[in-house]
Amino acid sequence: MHRVKTVAQLQTLIKTWRGEGKRIALVPTMGNLHAGHLQLVRVAQQHADSVITSIFVNPSQFAIGEDFAAYPRSEQQDQQKLTGIGTDCLFIPSIAEVYGDQPQTRISVTDMAGLHCGQFRPGHFDGVATIVCKLFNMTQADCAVFGLKDFQQFAIIKTMVRDLNIPIQLIGVDTVRETNGLAMSSRNSYLSVQEKSTAALLFQTLCQARDAIIAGNRDYPALQHQAMQRLASAGFQTDYFSICRSDDLQPATLPDQDLVILTAAKLGKARLIDNLYFSV
Ligand code: PAF
Repeated sequence: MHRVKTVAQLQTLIKTWRGEGKRIALVPTMGNLHAGHLQLVRVAQQHADSVITSIFVNPSQFAIGEDFAAYPRSEQQDQQKLTGIGTDCLFIPSIAEVYGDQPQTRISVTDMAGLHCGQFRPGHFDGVATIVCKLFNMTQADCAVFGLKDFQQFAIIKTMVRDLNIPIQLIGVDTVRETNGLAMSSRNSYLSVQEKSTAALLFQTLCQARDAIIAGNRDYPALQHQAMQRLASAGFQTDYFSICRSDDLQPATLPDQDLVILTAAKLGKARLIDNLYFSV
């Protein structure tokens, strides 16, 4: 595995690969890799000859007061996992390498960035869109692979790629879950053993709402309210539990058929997000 820290080194490697006619995939991550990330690498390997996995804890997507400094970092273990799975290149740049001096440009996918998580994490999705666009430009990848646990993030990246005519194929991969249903996340390391078991309720509540909708209950406000109450009585502080259209993430109404239920809730020190998408 090539371990590359600068954009110049990365682009030299890419030039060699291009000369060999290789198709290149990017898996952008913030490290502290778990089975969900390794699944993204596996999918990338099915779509390309060479896979670049980036690890960059991106400061610009953390709002003031969030966990940028405390965000779990585990470079040694990450490197071992990536070597084990056969990623071709680990791109692990510094903040200075990525942002240089006083960057002036920021990307905002305006409508979607203010919804759901955007209401609780001001500037978060602008930071995500900007770093993802930069990584696309740095790597010139043919395709990029993202986890659908971050459903809103994926919708925003799709919109950015469409609006800016970025020549890249986007691939979304289903959420990998613990045996109790909890979506895998780097932030699960903030949970105690007891909280990890309680956290399973988030997915159970999503499934319960989905099953009620499939069974014919279309009173979305009532379903959302019941879910929030259920989570509150188990000790969650729920930011939102929203039944939406899966394309533009606006509140679902009766005729809509492709739906996603999005939720974010705090439990102890962790803010957990999860979703379920389905058609009725
Ligand atoms: O999903 C993540 O881990 C991050 O938001 C991403 C896409 C790597 C951008 O920093």
